[in-house]
Amino acid sequence: MAGKLIDGKAIAKSMREQLKSRVAKLKKQGVTPGLAVILVGDDPASHSYVRAKERACENVGIYSDDNRVDAGITQQELLEMIEDKNNDPKINGILVQLPLPEHIDETAVLLAISPEKDVDGFHPINIGKMVAGKKSFLPCTPHGVVQMLLHSDVTLEGADVVIVGRSNIVGKPLANMLIQKAPTGNATVTVCHTRTKKLSEHTHRADIVIAAAGKPNTVTADMIKSGTVVIDVGVNRIDDTSRERGYRLVGDVDFEKVKEKASMITPVPGGVGPMTITMLLYNTVESAESFSAKT
Ligand code: GUN
Repeated sequence: MAGKLIDGKAIAKSMREQLKSRVAKLKKQGVTPGLAVILVGDDPASHSYVRAKERACENVGIYSDDNRVDAGITQQELLEMIEDKNNDPKINGILVQLPLPEHIDETAVLLAISPEKDVDGFHPINIGKMVAGKKSFLPCTPHGVVQMLLHSDVTLEGADVVIVGRSNIVGKPLANMLIQKAPTGNATVTVCHTRTKKLSEHTHRADIVIAAAGKPNTVTADMIKSGTVVIDVGVNRIDDTSRERGYRLVGDVDFEKVKEKASMITPVPGGVGPMTITMLLYNTVESAESFSAKT
């Protein structure tokens, strides 16, 4: 029997409706939440993510400050641009789209963003707070995954979770969130990666498998037990001449076969993707609310 589809779009929509009313309340107090997005260069995937972020801001009433800059920008110029946004009271959140061109030091850029406006949750101060279980901006994709599981009534407490992938953006922060002593955590987590021996032995005993490896077919039906909850964080472009745009998107999971064995599964597209952007909006609204409380 095919597993139930976890509809990321629907969960994201209901969360965005709640954010709309929080934004409306802030606007009545004279505060419009503002998100500055800085996109360096012309990577097509980054451009489409950024367009989606801008549309989502508009949808919930957040002011979107769009900054598309040439790949030739110097590191100093970029740092000055960030400093301007740090000091701009109209801006509550700053996001510098990654990856950056090679001549720019990513760590220096992430450190330059004020931790109070770091709605990506990538600043070392926010990462440290997250690891220590303190309130902080949580990175959007892993936070979106946790929210999806909670909204789908998946039991996290005591669950065996296997994450495939150890990136700074998804795997590492997600493992941290899921082990916290909190209703959003309390799971037993294993993080697998390219050097893991016998990946299949790990995925087989998992109640929840989260694929975030960035490679199609990383998780196949023979690798999971029946009844597993499967979350697919992957977004991979596959050449497809039958599509007008020349490609289609697939995740890291062999969706068609795995869905027959899973109890619940996320599709790609329409799964984790809409949740990531929603959590970015969520962090921006949280930031505007704490700014509003201080003034
Ligand atoms: N590139 C891919 N995912 C992300 C993200 O969540 N935030 C930023 N800033 N860049 C990304």
